[in-house]
Amino acid sequence: MAEIRIEKLVKAYGDLVVLKDIDLEIIDGEFIVFVGRSGCGKSTLLRSIAGLENISAGEIWIGGKDVTQLAPSKRGIAMVFQSYALYPHLTVRENMGFSLRLAGTDKDARDKAVDKAARILQLTEYLDRKPSQLSGGQRQRVAIGRAIVREPGVFLFDEPLSNLDADLRVQMRAELIQLHDQLKATMVYVTHDQVEAMTMADRIVVLNGGVIEQVGTPAELYAAPKNEFVATFIGSPRMNILELAGKSDGASVTLPGGRRYDCGRSDLGEMPCKLGIRPENITFTDPEKAALTGRVKLVEALGSDSFVTLSHDGEKSVTARVPGTSRLTSGEMVGIGFEPNCVHLFGAAGQRL
Ligand SMILES: Nc1ncnc2c1ncn2[C@@H]1O[C@H](COP(=O)(O)OP(=O)(O)O)[C@@H](O)[C@H]1O
Ligand SMILES: [Mg+2]
Repeated sequence: MAEIRIEKLVKAYGDLVVLKDIDLEIIDGEFIVFVGRSGCGKSTLLRSIAGLENISAGEIWIGGKDVTQLAPSKRGIAMVFQSYALYPHLTVRENMGFSLRLAGTDKDARDKAVDKAARILQLTEYLDRKPSQLSGGQRQRVAIGRAIVREPGVFLFDEPLSNLDADLRVQMRAELIQLHDQLKATMVYVTHDQVEAMTMADRIVVLNGGVIEQVGTPAELYAAPKNEFVATFIGSPRMNILELAGKSDGASVTLPGGRRYDCGRSDLGEMPCKLGIRPENITFTDPEKAALTGRVKLVEALGSDSFVTLSHDGEKSVTARVPGTSRLTSGEMVGIGFEPNCVHLFGAAGQRL
């Protein structure tokens, strides 16, 4: 069993506190993704789990054991970095078996472990090559193979696909998901890319400035973001946020431009300050009856669908996602509506209401 429990973890470099009171439970066998902007503390949290950082306070438990003071090699983890860091003068087989050789594993057992990992990663025919004779994707697979041979309970990945081009990244994403299904190990995966997080994770941890904003399944984060940060971080194009002014309560709010919109909510404890609506939940209606009126500023056609930027209320803009077959053209006046039950309301502190 390789569940991970993090309790009240603090990490500071001098006066700079980069992780603030982190509490997190990762379930055995789960694929969990840490996502957030650059500098928010993802790598530091991962490296703390690995034992590569001395934490300032708190505890880390892996598989029911307190590993807070334990050396990385004693934690039952293996880490895969963005840079593959393969030994250029060693073959793929030697690279993959290197840690086992260091650990004193005999050659037969080593070969067996490497052959098995190579089969899983489809590297068997490349075992005698040097890293320079491999593509970027193959090199990254060797780096993953190096982790697999150790049969760790926990895999830690730090942006392992960032150096690959877009096509290969999508392919490797799928391969890693399959690998997880096959190995059933606990996997902790760091990325700044919310699409990667959404497509790969059983659960996502959204980090922001050293604090966990929300933990949940991709569907939970998308449907019920806890606050404005998560709401605008998850989803692309990002959720539109409209500032509410004038009299607003749950039943009806005052939109920019002064029209009223009926949210049909009777359960709000406080006055909503902002309304969020995802681009895919924008509808087009008769300008006379619409919640907002706007003018089409830009249509970006992607083929399957188009992103439409609309100006409303003078300078402000909203983005809508429409089918690629839509006939909207630049300059056109339209009525902007919201799909029922798709409106998100946020309070003064940005929290979801
Ligand atoms: N060795 C270090 N000394 C001082 N500050 C550091 C050190 N390592 C990381 N930091 C700071 O800690 C914060 C989090 O870094 P990091 O965990 O690498 O972010 P992420 O992986 O989310 O991009 C950043 O502000 C970074 O500048
Ligand atoms: Mg990082």
